[in-house]
Amino acid sequence: MSLDIESRRVRETIAGLGHDGDEPICAYIYDLENLRRHAQSMRDALPPRCQLYYAVKANAEPAVLDTLAPLVDGFEVASGGELRWLHQQQATSPLLFGGPGKLDSELALAVALPDCSLHVESLGELERLARIAAGVGKRVSIYLRMNMVVPGIADTRLMMGGKPTPFGMEEDTLPQALACLRQSPWLHLEGFHFHLMSHQLDAGMQLQLVRAYLDIVARWRREHAVEVQVLNAGGGFGVDYADPVRSFNWLRFCDGLRQLLAGRDNDPILRFEPGRYVTAACGYYVMEVLDIKRNHGEWFAIARGGTHHFRTPPAQGHDHPFFVLRGAATPTIEHQHVTVVGQLCTPKDVLARLQPVQALAPGDRVVFPLAGAYAWNISHQQFLMHPPPRMVFLAAEKAA
Ligand SMILES: Cc1ncc(COP(=O)(O)O)c(C=O)c1O
Repeated sequence: MSLDIESRRVRETIAGLGHDGDEPICAYIYDLENLRRHAQSMRDALPPRCQLYYAVKANAEPAVLDTLAPLVDGFEVASGGELRWLHQQQATSPLLFGGPGKLDSELALAVALPDCSLHVESLGELERLARIAAGVGKRVSIYLRMNMVVPGIADTRLMMGGKPTPFGMEEDTLPQALACLRQSPWLHLEGFHFHLMSHQLDAGMQLQLVRAYLDIVARWRREHAVEVQVLNAGGGFGVDYADPVRSFNWLRFCDGLRQLLAGRDNDPILRFEPGRYVTAACGYYVMEVLDIKRNHGEWFAIARGGTHHFRTPPAQGHDHPFFVLRGAATPTIEHQHVTVVGQLCTPKDVLARLQPVQALAPGDRVVFPLAGAYAWNISHQQFLMHPPPRMVFLAAEKAA
């Protein structure tokens, strides 16, 4: 299963996009059918006793959530804002509420919702939650988020654990957390939560990590006489933007998982909560070329929009891959390397630096695939008061 970014439907849609009045085009295209198929195949590959949640921080557009809702077991949210949004958008879906720095008001909202479990990040948060749940007399399912060092696991570019970070609790604090839970009849320990890293490209390494989590939880069950139903192994499955074929191999991972879980019927249910890997491939950012110029020996294409719409390239520190849909104009440049920039008055507004193009002219459309996750929603959208991009959603077919 590779990430599909070569959709003919998307190319045709982009080619057919009319101008915004008289203005050059700038748009996000979301291929919801591609998303539906991808999520369905992720789901189908998972062995029994595994659950798939979606981390909405990657992209919480209503149409994206609607497409995913029938295919996932629920949604992971990481702020009060996401919690309210998801409750509004997907009122009947199970929610997981994680992240550090939760306000009392947010904890109270999570407690009040019909189906929301909490990932507790610290002892202090656990005590506050116990008071809030007792105050309203409501039983709440919780997971302790643990920050473990797992020997033999290589770091990725984005580590949330295995080292000092604001996330989760270290193992030494577990006895205190369990003591607090024993005195808190309103809190039910449903399981443990781990999310040590994002950008994992190595399925074998991720399997080792999951095996380690299973072993750790089995040890805690013995040592502390605790029963848990679920082990949430987080998200973090990586996308290789430069070479999508080398992205995380979900099928290989699921095959390995099947072998790993064979004969481990006493283990808790395994849960995953990926974000990027689910939605990255369904999104495309399209910019129309406004101007092409040479400056101190290098070619620049200035296109409509920029990193205030699509911050993924600077956030990742990479040259985002793109393709060109040519218009009717005679090329200004041919067989050149060009830097694609947006309209912002900062030299940081670069989407791809010195990339080869066969031909390029003003009016051509530059299309950035893999723009469906951590893209529009992580961008500094108000900067310079440029208008937002057009949002185009290509409908999903109904699941059979
Ligand atoms: C707790 C938690 N779960 C899931 C995710 C989703 O990660 P990814 O988008 O890399 O799958 C994140 C990302 O920051 C996270 O912090």
